[in-house]
Amino acid sequence: MELLREDFDEIQKKIISFYGIDLSRKYELVKNRLTTFAIDEGYNDLHKFIKAIKKNPFLYKELVNRLTTNYTYFFREKEHFKILKEKIIPEIMNKNPNNLRLKIWSAGCSKGNEAYSIAITLEEMLGLKLNYSIYGTDISTKVLNFANKGIYTREDLKKIEEDKIMKYFNKIRENQFQVIDRLVKKVYFSELNLMLPFNPFFNNFNIIFCRNVMIYFPLDVKIKLINKFYNVLQPGGYLIIGKSEILPKTKNNFKLVQQSIYRKEL
Ligand SMILES: C[S@@+](CC[C@H](N)C(=O)[O-])C[C@H]1O[C@@H](n2cnc3c(N)ncnc32)[C@H](O)[C@@H]1O
Repeated sequence: MELLREDFDEIQKKIISFYGIDLSRKYELVKNRLTTFAIDEGYNDLHKFIKAIKKNPFLYKELVNRLTTNYTYFFREKEHFKILKEKIIPEIMNKNPNNLRLKIWSAGCSKGNEAYSIAITLEEMLGLKLNYSIYGTDISTKVLNFANKGIYTREDLKKIEEDKIMKYFNKIRENQFQVIDRLVKKVYFSELNLMLPFNPFFNNFNIIFCRNVMIYFPLDVKIKLINKFYNVLQPGGYLIIGKSEILPKTKNNFKLVQQSIYRKEL
């Protein structure tokens, strides 16, 4: 199907202004994903389909699901989970020995793999009597449904050690493994657009993971978001970004701890 330049421009401008995702150089990707979406909805003309999307909020929501890139896996960039266990958590706990409550945010959580990887890491430190909550947020309702169910295939679990699969997943059907209830109860998933002001409840975090999300954002959007993260972290709190990313310079007091790990000064 043909995607007119003006239709492409209109869509990519909407997506960048509402969600921060820059698709301006992704004509082929947008065309391919829109074509599949149009076929699924019974259309054979992209111009007509785009007109229909503009009139129908359900189609618009689904457009967001179709245009976001949700690639993720358990224990992605595994050094982050090592440093979480060996340095960040012990340090936070030493500073607050009487209040062992941790609030962690997986911002741009996709299908929940990151949030559950954090939960498994914390559970493995249970001897330390941790009380924690993890918030997973995304703009894609499709991945959030997935995350809420917490059901994964054997292939999805391939980066998790066998003993942890046995401990933290129940086999519910052939090739379907569901995260155990105890973990599900610690992780709260909700829809949240990082471009909008945060709900007042989103504050006082000890750690924010925002990995492989800002790579799609233009510089001005990144700078605003980093300052928002700074404001909702506790003093001494950590921001962890993807290993291939670098934070642009902003006026806040984040200190680089090591590549991709930043700390709000005490
Ligand atoms: C590539 S995935 C990364 C998932 C996970 N953090 C990881 O590193 O494996 C990026 C996620 O960010 C989400 N995202 C993109 N723009 C967003 C926005 N403005 N607000 C919230 N989530 C967003 C996408 O829907 C997608 O699920």
